Amino acid sequence: MTVESRKALEQIQPYTPGLPVWEVQQKYGLKSVVKLASNENPLGPSPKAIEAIQSSLGELHRYPDANTTAIRHAIGEKLGISSEQFIITNGGDELIKLISETYLEPGDNIIVPSPSFSEYEFGAHLMDAKVIPVPLDDHFRFDVPAILAAVTQQTKIIYVCSPNNPTGTYMTHAQLTELLQGLPKGIIVVIDGAYNHYADAADFTDGIEFVKENYPVVILHTFSKIFGLAGLRIGYGIAQASIIQQILKVKEPFNVNTLAQIAATAALTDEEHLDLSRQTVIEGRKQLYEACRELGLPYIESMGNFVLIELGPHTQNIYDTLLTKGIILRNGKAWGLPQHVRVSIGTKQENSFLIQELRTLLTVGNIK
Ligand SMILES: Cc1ncc(COP(=O)(O)O)c(C=O)c1O
Repeated sequence: MTVESRKALEQIQPYTPGLPVWEVQQKYGLKSVVKLASNENPLGPSPKAIEAIQSSLGELHRYPDANTTAIRHAIGEKLGISSEQFIITNGGDELIKLISETYLEPGDNIIVPSPSFSEYEFGAHLMDAKVIPVPLDDHFRFDVPAILAAVTQQTKIIYVCSPNNPTGTYMTHAQLTELLQGLPKGIIVVIDGAYNHYADAADFTDGIEFVKENYPVVILHTFSKIFGLAGLRIGYGIAQASIIQQILKVKEPFNVNTLAQIAATAALTDEEHLDLSRQTVIEGRKQLYEACRELGLPYIESMGNFVLIELGPHTQNIYDTLLTKGIILRNGKAWGLPQHVRVSIGTKQENSFLIQELRTLLTVGNIK
């Protein structure tokens, strides 16, 4: 006799990660593969983080610090916020799950301006809550009046991914103010700032001022992107201390491993690595925009380390052919955008390789 799992789990769709380099190497017999599929840092981890890890390996027989004291203080100092206003998690993904477990009752709903990051849905479905998608506008921008109109008594969480994955668009300061001031009480707004370091628009806000003004917001940050530590799994949430206390109730004691805590603390102050990483993305975005214009491919200007490009009806064919050349992109199908791909910004050489292969395919290869 089979044991039935919870009914709510039937709604959960498995997460589709970017294809790993080794898999594409094996499948196509390739020596080198360029992965532009998971918005990672193409420069690698902060050298200071690597050094810190190497010098702490001998301590691995000890449990990690359950209170994540050093990293909370380091972040607090950097952002000018009390260390009581942070929760450190096993990646931003865990924070989304913990927030869902803290606030969602069966039948509640979350609002997701869509398309966006799929883990918000996962958290809701896990708790038997409903997802209310609110489409971005025709230019993939946030539509605050539509978000406000979607709010019901069941709404518990609104996710604002800014810059938004996969579109790279963002919620302006004025829009976020309008949203927060227009909401009834009792709703948590999660501002997912996984890509906030790459945003350079004058009217972009990371939302921290709204935490300081005691709005019911939780800001998500991660060490997986600009800090280059995706493999270690560490991220954090910023909120009023009372919200943090609520979320801490569902956290496992040793959720963040020792090496992640140590590496993140070191990476946080590695300004050289941060500057270089940011510069690489800002220049890489320009490089891709220029190529798109030359090739006649529509694209969305991005505040993240990725660009959503419209390849048209032959997207799947182009995507598959690029894979055989050793270039991994993210197919837009996952977001209901079958004519788009999301391209993570690589090094200048990696971007050039992609551009050169695309040019060949679209001109000589006759795929259009
Ligand atoms: C928008 C967004 N939020 C959160 C995350 C989670 O990051 P991690 O769990 O690696 O910290 C990602 C990862 O791709 C993301 O794109």
